[in-house]
Amino acid sequence: MTFKKRILCIGAGYVGGPTMAVIADKCPDVRVELVDINAERIAAWNSDDLPIYEPGLDEVVKRNRGKNLFFTTETDKGITESDIIFVSVNTPTKTFGQGAGLAADLQYWEKTARQILRASTSDKIVVEKSTLPVRTAEAMDRILNSNGSGPHFEVLSNPEFLAEGTAIEDLLDPDRVLIGGMNTDTGQKALDSLEDVYAAWVPRDRIIRTNVWSSELAKLVANAFLAQRVSSINAVSALCERTSADVNEVAHAIGRDSRIGSKFLKSSVGFGGSCFKKDILNLVYICRQHGLPEVADYWEQVVRMNEYQQDRFVGRMISEMFNTVAGKRIAVFGFAFKADTGDTRESPAIRVCRHLLEERAEVCITDPKALKNARYDLGQDTPGVTYEPDPYKAAEGAHAVAIMTEWSDFKSLDYKRIHDTMAKPAFIFDGRNILDHDKLFDLGFNVYPIGKAARTHH
Ligand code: UDX
Ligand code: ADP
Repeated sequence: MTFKKRILCIGAGYVGGPTMAVIADKCPDVRVELVDINAERIAAWNSDDLPIYEPGLDEVVKRNRGKNLFFTTETDKGITESDIIFVSVNTPTKTFGQGAGLAADLQYWEKTARQILRASTSDKIVVEKSTLPVRTAEAMDRILNSNGSGPHFEVLSNPEFLAEGTAIEDLLDPDRVLIGGMNTDTGQKALDSLEDVYAAWVPRDRIIRTNVWSSELAKLVANAFLAQRVSSINAVSALCERTSADVNEVAHAIGRDSRIGSKFLKSSVGFGGSCFKKDILNLVYICRQHGLPEVADYWEQVVRMNEYQQDRFVGRMISEMFNTVAGKRIAVFGFAFKADTGDTRESPAIRVCRHLLEERAEVCITDPKALKNARYDLGQDTPGVTYEPDPYKAAEGAHAVAIMTEWSDFKSLDYKRIHDTMAKPAFIFDGRNILDHDKLFDLGFNVYPIGKAARTHH
């Protein structure tokens, strides 16, 4: 079959994989290829056991794989043969040198740009899909178009707003698609070409066109605003616990104001995920670089509040359990940074478990999808940690259960059975406010929700 367009995506991760699978599904006349330097990951994409878990992803991949959706490690060939190249490689926070701990590490991005330059024999549209600091596209444009008379490269920014766990849903029915391009004839033509891809299933009035820098900045700011809402309600939760106000009631009451809105106001043990912290710190770094320390400090506080919330959670566990958890078994229910994903990047459970281990607790972790990643994060043979797929077994002999992820599986467990096998007094610390606290109290638990008065028997 001859295809109308050929798309290549460099980086077959959480963003590139699902996004390209949906493009292939919705655009049967477009050939979509994903490449990755990680051969194991590519092999997994070509197998029955995909490298990431997302509801609905299996069906979309299996429906299109081998027809117009391909996974390979042949990056150079893919570059040469494509018209549009999405770059979706990782952009972690720098761990060394200038900007360490804050700025984005762009080495993978720059290597990719140079590889595109080397392998290209015709004009290309290069699309930034990874979240990048503002004005990265400009740097990319300079690297790519440094060859004078060679092929022309048009750099676009097209940040992805999908959330993990709902990636396929978000891709199929996005609030908006954002694409930024240069304000030149070739820039606008490239925007038209990318817009046409999305228009196969997204109404055109939901496709926003901006200049490249607005698009790059909008992605960082969207994540900063979302994380800020979580930190704001979590700050309020601390006050609720002191005053016997109920954070859910407060959130409900303020969320009914249409200017505030009801979404993203769930108080929790803290936000995690690969994006929020990284993007905010990136924003903080950019503000400092531009001589705006007050603006930088303002946004940095969102991350500090998130760390405070996690530390406060562990602190409360220790103080309520008679000021010591040493030698006590703690069943940690959930390790993923949110439900419906196996992803544990920046999960609050990591910080909470490390803290508990420092206090010499015996931590037993259970999670329906994230045990493999949990082992990777905390170590397979780390003293004091065990991994147990069955929550009932995890809770056997435990002094406390700590809910870290809002998996629906945890809501329907038989907590009487759990209580019966636990050490007494039995404690539950519900870091996601998902359980029926009155019922647990009646079963004999001492219950500690987030942002609500504790229910205790002593
Ligand atoms: C986020 C953005 O939502 C998405 O648009 C962007 O593309 C990537 O970053 P993601 O990290 O997948 O997506 O998950 P999200 O649903 O936003 O949750 C992030 C964290 O905030 C999770 O740990 C979640 O549990 C927490 N959260 C979210 C709360 O604690 N309370 C809330 O009300 C909402
Ligand atoms: P994201 O959540 O942004 O998708 P991931 O870490 O899940 O991030 O995915 C990024 C992918 O990019 C990884 O699978 C990584 O192996 C891949 N990658 C990084 N550098 C390159 C490169 N130069 N060429 C191809 N793939 C790359």
